[in-house]
Amino acid sequence: MQLSSPLLEFPSTSFDPWRVSELRHHLGDHPLFAKPALMELAARLEQRRSVRAHTAQATAGTAFNHAPAIFPNRRTAVATLDDIDNAGVWMSLLNVQADEIYRELVDGVLDSVKPMLDKLDPGMCYRGGWIFLTSPRAVTPFHMDKEHNFILQIKGRKTLYVWEPDDLEAVSEEARDLFHASHSRDLVAWRDALRARAHVFQLEPGMGAYMPATSPHMVENGDGASITASFTYYTHSTIRNARMHALHQRLRQMGMQPARVGMHPWWDAFSGALYSGLLGLQQAFGQGRGSAGVGEEYSRYALDPAAREGSHASI
Ligand SMILES: [Fe+2]
Repeated sequence: MQLSSPLLEFPSTSFDPWRVSELRHHLGDHPLFAKPALMELAARLEQRRSVRAHTAQATAGTAFNHAPAIFPNRRTAVATLDDIDNAGVWMSLLNVQADEIYRELVDGVLDSVKPMLDKLDPGMCYRGGWIFLTSPRAVTPFHMDKEHNFILQIKGRKTLYVWEPDDLEAVSEEARDLFHASHSRDLVAWRDALRARAHVFQLEPGMGAYMPATSPHMVENGDGASITASFTYYTHSTIRNARMHALHQRLRQMGMQPARVGMHPWWDAFSGALYSGLLGLQQAFGQGRGSAGVGEEYSRYALDPAAREGSHASI
């Protein structure tokens, strides 16, 4: 389908890649968000084990990483989607860019904003797409992710709570260091009082939000089922930021108390370059664990579309 332009619109005249902002979109009528197409996608992604779900028993305070194990959804993805009004489930179709039909959609959306983003926050890579299918009143537990994220409401209503990416009251520096070093969200802790600090978006079809990397968020679905899409990516700055936090976690493990990332830019630049060099050497000698080192090309997609398994950069 030819996508009309502009797909995304930003009411604010000054888009800042490291600030939460509202947006509007024109993807609501796209045929790939119609139920028959989503049913076929769910079947294909389930074969790749690229579906994540938990029941609506999960709350804002449920540990996000472990919600599918704590509150498992016993139905198949297709059966769940077919009865999403009554299923009592939150379900995410992961890494839809790995599907050749939906990859075109991910590229269409992100290509439409890339020229603007390149001027402010260059290096778009690890592109990803995620489609959330949510039963009435299901909740997405409080968490944060590593990617910049355009979250778009396609059908139904939900309340999105987002905190700024530098809000250390919402998620501490220690929690951020641990997250980037090990993907653990064990120190990301929900408190009801955090609601008062959040940007609150009452999302309806055609509305959305931009959430910079590591902006904590929590979502409460409305009284009807909903469809929401996320289009995500990394940039040079998100990779630098993640690398600094991972380095600081290593320093913590050695008993040090590193300053907050961003507090001393000269230190960040020096130690980040040193750390990148070490990672590059590790990779050169076959000891790397997937971190990009010096001179490495970053992938266009978060998951190689040719990959057979459903592993993914973000959960
Ligand atoms: Fe998320």
